[in-house]
Amino acid sequence: MNNELQQRYTFLCQLAKEAGQLAYNYQRKLIEDGLTIDVKGLQDFVSEADKETESFIRQQLTQTYPQDGFLGEESGEVSVQHNGEENNNTTGTWVVDPIDGTTNFLRKQPMWCVSIAYLVDGEPVIGAIYDPCHDELFSARHGEGAWLNEQPLEVNQGSTDMVGLVNLGYSAKMPLGTYLKTMKRLLDHGIEHRRHGSAALGLAHVAAGRFDGYREDFINAWDIMAGVVILREAGADVIVNEVTGGYAIQASVPALTDLLKG
Ligand code: IPD
Repeated sequence: MNNELQQRYTFLCQLAKEAGQLAYNYQRKLIEDGLTIDVKGLQDFVSEADKETESFIRQQLTQTYPQDGFLGEESGEVSVQHNGEENNNTTGTWVVDPIDGTTNFLRKQPMWCVSIAYLVDGEPVIGAIYDPCHDELFSARHGEGAWLNEQPLEVNQGSTDMVGLVNLGYSAKMPLGTYLKTMKRLLDHGIEHRRHGSAALGLAHVAAGRFDGYREDFINAWDIMAGVVILREAGADVIVNEVTGGYAIQASVPALTDLLKG
């Protein structure tokens, strides 16, 4: 890994933790006094915590890496002005979800995280997912490994009959039938499923061997890009397909790839 990317990685890990702490303080505030919440759509909310956390991340990134592109869940794609000139984005792009699992966050639950990836030529090369409620930082550098805090990450190495727990995500943008078919296929093979409501954390937990797979048929780039590099480095099979307006993702231990695909 070149020096410049290594510096970005160090910066990224620190930033994910600081942003996570900021969001965590907002959740404490929510528990004590409430927050301003807007409804974006059915079961789709945004709070001042999402907006302020993204704005903090964006400010830190544009200050340190003004030449980089930025795509955030709340701000969309931002063309950064630097020295009065339009950013030609000759370097890479930061892809940011300030709070993934917003519904959990707003319901005062601990299953949410900050997710930040840096992409070069459309591929995530470094990524960090920080879960402030458990002080867990999942991170990876392309070609060099993935870590949970300081510990190297590896997907579950159990034998085929020991891989039995999959995390599913559901999006109303895709037919319910597809989701139900996946669930049935898993159950028919004796595989348990969960739905935790944070795609980024769900992916990180596959990398950590806490789940054997994750599948969601419509998802946005900011929900998955950090997870993709972390999963690849932890030895997961990762399949990302473009679908209209977003992506479909499945990631699993190799033994479950075909079954999860269907
Ligand atoms: C959502 C969560 C959820 C997933 C949705 C995402 P948000 O992200 O990751 O688990 O099923 O597809 O949009 O809105 O909480 O950042």
